[in-house]
Amino acid sequence: MSLPNFNPTTTKAWKNLESHFNNSKEDHIKNLFSENANRATDFSITWNDFLVDFSKNRITDETMQLLLQLANEVKLNDAINSYFKGDAINETESRAVLHTALRAKESDIIKVDGENVVPEVFEVKQHIKKFTDSIISGESKGYTGKSFTDVVNIGIGGSDLGPAMVTEALKFYKNHLKVHFVSNVDGDHVQEVLKELNPETTLFVVVSKTFTTQETLSNATTIKEWFLRSGSQMDVAKHFAAVSTNAKKIAEFGIAKENVFPMWDWVGGRFSLWSAVGLSIALAVGFENFDALLKGANEMDEHFKNEDFDKNIPVVLALLSIWYNNFYGAETEAVIPYTQYLSRFSAYLQQGIMESNGKSVDRGGNHVNYETGTIIWGEPGTNSQHAFFQLIHQGTKLIPADFIGFKKSLYGNTDHHNKLMANFFAQTEALMNGKTGEEVRVELEAKNMAESEIQKLLPFKVFEGNNPTNTILIDKLTPRSLGALIALYEHKIFVQGVLWNIFSYDQWGVELGKQLAGTTLSDIESSEISKHDSSTMQLLQSFKG
Ligand code: F6P
Repeated sequence: MSLPNFNPTTTKAWKNLESHFNNSKEDHIKNLFSENANRATDFSITWNDFLVDFSKNRITDETMQLLLQLANEVKLNDAINSYFKGDAINETESRAVLHTALRAKESDIIKVDGENVVPEVFEVKQHIKKFTDSIISGESKGYTGKSFTDVVNIGIGGSDLGPAMVTEALKFYKNHLKVHFVSNVDGDHVQEVLKELNPETTLFVVVSKTFTTQETLSNATTIKEWFLRSGSQMDVAKHFAAVSTNAKKIAEFGIAKENVFPMWDWVGGRFSLWSAVGLSIALAVGFENFDALLKGANEMDEHFKNEDFDKNIPVVLALLSIWYNNFYGAETEAVIPYTQYLSRFSAYLQQGIMESNGKSVDRGGNHVNYETGTIIWGEPGTNSQHAFFQLIHQGTKLIPADFIGFKKSLYGNTDHHNKLMANFFAQTEALMNGKTGEEVRVELEAKNMAESEIQKLLPFKVFEGNNPTNTILIDKLTPRSLGALIALYEHKIFVQGVLWNIFSYDQWGVELGKQLAGTTLSDIESSEISKHDSSTMQLLQSFKG
């Protein structure tokens, strides 16, 4: 079954949301708190070790009811069923979207073209376990008989961002292997990584769903040449592994069959860290932890699939995002994790969210007449407080933000953790409350400031507040809670794509860039430059000298 095809703006709920927005847009969140003593619990969801508090939003019961009505009118429930069942909902590529099958239970049955894919997923998981166990334990040796000390993941986009983000996020759980990432076709990137490495003790994992990506093939070739300066062609078998759907190209590259891990076309690159694409994660933290990551994601899948929409975390967060994007005209959303471990989280989400929902043609092939994908950005707190928070507090733009924090620190440094979390709670409170002129006056008077000075300074010290935030408070950063957190955002992407009536699982815009880069490369490498606009001609001529 294909996804429903509705222009969301033609629904009854959308019209009602428009008039509700016109009536409520001036409401201040702090007043909504004064009106309802139960607001915090009314607008919170407790699930496993997650507390998702969305009460600091510009919403009332009526807003939520209308947003939920919108979800029902566009038949979100049917769409969720199609997604989990393996229907070919990536219609422009005629593919199912089944990253959820990668973390399914062994007893689940999920069919693609009539065939249950779960047994094959578990076979690959066994292969990951066996392979990673033998590298970590030192049983597998390099070509001079030494155990491996370093792993290099060679990939880009979904073949890099997920593994890189998770490896960093789970650093606390890491073993002795040092994991490096080479992604950019910038030759300086690969050289900087190689200069730290000893070929005798390094394992290279080439990750590319298609095995045709220019960046990855160039880096893999450069690295293989570097390796062959010390090792022989036969030694490549011991030092290179590959993850791809393209068995033929892997064989041409010369990687030994036992080191090849398959991927499936029903897994999108940006949702693939749960597959063998996550090999470097499993190498870094061991298979048990990798499996716990998958379990956490599976738990979120079950929650998303089965929970009523008003208590369904991905659904609620997606609806809130639509409220700001489509009614308030907010263009961006910030994601602020209060843990340094999640320093790559927003970069990872940028691909997931923006490559998926950065579309302007609807599922009927028409240009949309409403806004779609949000721009995602963010950095960990508290660092970001000293960087861009000024603009969120006092700038002219509305920037809804997700604050992600953990009750426990991993090393148990209570002093630091209390300070970190004090900032976490204080920021969402300040963003909501702001500071009135009256409050500023009281503060300045207490400092015995002269009236003329107070009047001069006061306007600059006023904060309007009313900045919306969601707080995701989790017990502890573990492989399991991280898996659930990532899956939460994956499902939020899905819900938004369904509501915006776009196809979230293709990326034709990126394909264009790949084609153009190919033509331009021949212009650089040949003596003739083909026709371009005058600016590009000038730049190419200047580059070629
Ligand atoms: O950026 C486009 C894209 O196709 C992503 O979707 C994908 O994750 C990335 O390139 C890498 O592709 P591959 O894994 O095929 O090398």
